[in-house]
Amino acid sequence: MEHIFVRGGKALSGVVEIGGSKNDALAILVGAILVPGVSILHNVPVNTDIHNLLNIFRQMGVQANFTSSNTLELDASNLTTSETPHDLVRQMRASFNLLGAIMTRFGHAEVAMPGGCNIGARPVNFHIEGLRQLGAEFTLEHGVYHGKVDRFLGADINLEFPSAGTTQHLMIAATCAMGTTTIGNCAAEPEVVNLAEFLNACGAKITGVGTSVIVIEGVQTLHPTEFSILPDRMQAGTYAVAAAISGGDVFLKHAIYDHSRHLFSKMLDAGIQIDAELDGIRVKRNANTILPVDFKTMPHPGFPTDMQPILATMLTIGDGTSVVTETIYENRFRFTMELAKMGADVRISGRNAIITGVKRLSGAPVVSPDLRGGAALVIAGLVAEGVTEISDLHHIDRGYENLVGNLQHLGADIDRLTIKEGNIPCSV
Ligand code: EPU
Repeated sequence: MEHIFVRGGKALSGVVEIGGSKNDALAILVGAILVPGVSILHNVPVNTDIHNLLNIFRQMGVQANFTSSNTLELDASNLTTSETPHDLVRQMRASFNLLGAIMTRFGHAEVAMPGGCNIGARPVNFHIEGLRQLGAEFTLEHGVYHGKVDRFLGADINLEFPSAGTTQHLMIAATCAMGTTTIGNCAAEPEVVNLAEFLNACGAKITGVGTSVIVIEGVQTLHPTEFSILPDRMQAGTYAVAAAISGGDVFLKHAIYDHSRHLFSKMLDAGIQIDAELDGIRVKRNANTILPVDFKTMPHPGFPTDMQPILATMLTIGDGTSVVTETIYENRFRFTMELAKMGADVRISGRNAIITGVKRLSGAPVVSPDLRGGAALVIAGLVAEGVTEISDLHHIDRGYENLVGNLQHLGADIDRLTIKEGNIPCSV
């Protein structure tokens, strides 16, 4: 079993390269199932979610090979089955979008209810309702959705909530539908925009992305293309806060300022220096103190829920009280119970976390509760006195490629070690 050990107190400095976005890559990989021939995708991150999705693909006859460290060639011409491997699908959320993609190819599909981080109920009702409006029929048997459709038919859909996954799923399903589809109250995340750009590069006719109404004119066929996955705004935000909490000075190479405006604006309010430069962003903390800030998670372009645990962690050593409101996921404060073991003062009241800054955090054994909560604990360890030991790393591995190596490169005293039960190394 592997644990991360971090000894706090080192100010991070240097350059970190921001790799490809997990959520963008997952959506585009599913979109590529529609495309006959070899799609070439650059900047694909290597993490366990991507690995799982590619395993699902391979078991279904799709050829997927990395030709260099982050370039993937994918050929779905020989997709042989409409039934996805249920155990693998249940391990992640994004695999559910295969339902619409496979129904487009075969007219029917069998996909299990998805998994993903335990951060809330995360139902799939918007997905199913939207696909029904495009003409599909479903039954749910033993946790598996069985869908069928002759051909998706264009429809006028209005989402109850601007769900990122639903918007991407319906966009994929509508790409080769007969007629025109509009998706109102849709999501506007950069990963939604980039999926549309990928599909358009393959011959789709999608307009309006980035606004609240997307229009998709169905096309008969698509052709393969060569395309790049976006730099990961969640990785960029994680290293930005790591730099700030440690009192450091770090350049986030390839990070895109526009994709993280809300996070950076709150960091500026907290007294952190943020400079957009050519091909990246510099993050520097000049002041001794971090100012308290309040923030509330919202659909894009609001403050992203995925960055809530990360920024909230920085505020645990702020000079005053901050109020964090989580509106997207009802169960995304679990990391604060672990931070409390390190001396953080966080009180949860419904959807609010009231964080009263403390002078110091103290290293302790903590358990990663989910992907971003786990990364938040690593960040807390960077500034805590003594050693913080983080377990349940499989959550972190779902979305961060080489987190420990990158932090080491920036000067952190951090290691990932295999330990036997009850055998804790005394220094790192
Ligand atoms: N929702 C429903 N019904 C649905 C779909 C969503 O009630 O059918 C609710 C969700 O429960 C949630 C809200 O709508 O309360 C928003 O969920 P959304 O569909 O936007 O999220 P998602 O597509 O399942 C993606 C990311 C998440 C990220 C959210 C929000 C992927 C694979 N996952 O999830 O990423 O938190 O958008 O931005 O793209 C992460 O990377 O750590 C992560 C959890």
